Amino acid sequence: MTKKLVVFNWKMNPQTLAEAKSLLSIFSTKYQTPNTEYIVCPPNIYLESLIRASAVAKGYGGLRFASQNTFSAIDGAYTGEISSKMLKNLGVEYVIIGHSERRAMGETDEIINKKVLTALKVGLKVILCVGEPSRPTTNNQQPTTKAKQYIKTQLQKDLKGIEKLSVVGGGSLVSNLTVAYEPIWAISSSKDSRQDTPEDATKIVNFIRNFLDTKYKILNTRILYGGSVNSKNISAFINKSEINGALVGHASIDKKEFTKILKILKINKI
Ligand code: PGA
Repeated sequence: MTKKLVVFNWKMNPQTLAEAKSLLSIFSTKYQTPNTEYIVCPPNIYLESLIRASAVAKGYGGLRFASQNTFSAIDGAYTGEISSKMLKNLGVEYVIIGHSERRAMGETDEIINKKVLTALKVGLKVILCVGEPSRPTTNNQQPTTKAKQYIKTQLQKDLKGIEKLSVVGGGSLVSNLTVAYEPIWAISSSKDSRQDTPEDATKIVNFIRNFLDTKYKILNTRILYGGSVNSKNISAFINKSEINGALVGHASIDKKEFTKILKILKINKI
């Protein structure tokens, strides 16, 4: 049985620290399961308090934290930015890079590439988001050659130079990479959000895995599904053996949905 990884991206929510703590408190011993690793990605401003709260509270043992973004340089005069080194020093373990909502705000593959390399160098684990913007409505929404080509180009640009990164004393930092396949047309912030199917998602996940294996010899990379995942469809996606977990967005900031998802993961025998 392979352990699944489920990432909860709270985006720019909630609006107060008290609400963030209350949301986090839903995660407790009763929902932990040896089958699943959990990562919560709150806004950066809450990270320190939530890490501290989870360290003192009982039952948060299986929980890790991620930032939703990082900056490309390690340090320097960059007003308003937060570095990967700062996140690492705070106890943050993961960072999401290249989320489609950030790409839509103008983040290019070149910037994403710099962020990926810097984050890995300082010891953060990277969750790199990739995914095609649209899929033809014809042909039963089958993954198209065009979508694969789009994702391949993103991976090539975003991971440029990754193979040269190695840990002092041997080993490869590349093992700290997770990829989230996030078809933009399926996520909730997309204008004409549509449902993906686990079967089609698996085809793209397999394509990403083959590409990473062949081009970079990156074996065993965890590949998550990050289209719109909620309590209704999470089992169908993560029960696919090729899909290593899920990136959940808006469903994880709704208390009822968050609780339902945790319950499902607890009872789900993946
Ligand atoms: P959503 O977002 O679950 O709100 O559709 C997905 C994501 O953040 O990738």
